[in-house]
Amino acid sequence: MGQAQKLMEKGRVGVKPARTISKVGIIGAGQMGSGIAHVVALSGYTVAMNDLKKESFDKGIEAVHKNMARQIAKGIIKEEDRDTALERISFAPSFEDFGECDLVIEAATEDEALKHKIFAALCPHLKPTAMLASNTSSISITRLASTTDRPEDFIGMHFMNPVPVMELVELIRGIATGDETFSTARHFVESLGKTTAVSEDFPAFIVNRILLPMINEAVYTLYEGVGTVDAIDKAMRLGAHHPMGPLELADFIGLDTCLSVMQVLYEGLSDSKYRPCPLLVKYVEAGWLGRKTKRGFYDYRGEKPVPTR
Ligand SMILES: NC(=O)c1ccc[n+]([C@@H]2O[C@H](COP(=O)([O-])OP(=O)(O)OC[C@H]3O[C@@H](n4cnc5c(N)ncnc54)[C@H](O)[C@@H]3O)[C@@H](O)[C@H]2O)c1
Repeated sequence: MGQAQKLMEKGRVGVKPARTISKVGIIGAGQMGSGIAHVVALSGYTVAMNDLKKESFDKGIEAVHKNMARQIAKGIIKEEDRDTALERISFAPSFEDFGECDLVIEAATEDEALKHKIFAALCPHLKPTAMLASNTSSISITRLASTTDRPEDFIGMHFMNPVPVMELVELIRGIATGDETFSTARHFVESLGKTTAVSEDFPAFIVNRILLPMINEAVYTLYEGVGTVDAIDKAMRLGAHHPMGPLELADFIGLDTCLSVMQVLYEGLSDSKYRPCPLLVKYVEAGWLGRKTKRGFYDYRGEKPVPTR
């Protein structure tokens, strides 16, 4: 039996009953935080969502609205479902508003120092039984957990983008994550209609350990002049049957997030094969972060995306 399978069994057998979750706190109302709020509220949980500014929360709710409208048009949900779900989501301007939460999911910017600061400020406001999860794409769950007052109650809960559409959530146990926490997290994720895959706590876990080096290689291919943005994306869409080209996907993920993941892989595994492409660094330094800033490998300011190289 593989290590991951053993971990899954560990979550199933001989654990205390899963804790009840009814109120969920979310930190960060960006594309992931708002996507998580979307599925969590639709599944009947009450949601308190925090961000630095009320405008970010409003933007997040706007995205939830838009994505739910798509689901209504496709007959996946009804208008009443949207209305009740939206009523369940409220703005939490301060961590004091998380006192009643049974689970808090951190989905703020991919920056380890920032995440440590968030957990340090958050923990004093939590009830003793509250569980913590991070949606980090790459950062060590063991390290994040170790700076909190509850490493046994801490887990990696890695949702995929766009959250309402993607089936998978990776669950990552830190070295201290308790069986009950794992089992509660697994039940919670399944209650959202998602499937879990268990990953050991290594840099970038499973999906991004494989996906991000491919994206980084696509940026090198562009950097070295092997192909244009258009040629690289077309080649992978039509030649490898990928639903999106790697540069298009990088813009969708956010180039800052892509760079952070590559840095975590490079530093965490000390292997030069993970060196972030200098062109990726340059785009991030320019503030060209992809769709969210309207410019990345494509320019999204016009009617249709135009390659920037
Ligand atoms: N983008 C993806 O495809 C993807 C997929 C899976 C996981 N993730 C992970 O999810 C997390 C968020 O990524 P995203 O794509 O939503 O980024 P984003 O840039 O869209 O949103 C990040 C949000 O965090 C907020 N924030 C920053 N500092 C904060 C603080 N101190 N307190 C509260 N809010 C704060 C920002 O204002 C912003 O609204 C990251 O850890 C990322 O690695 C991203």
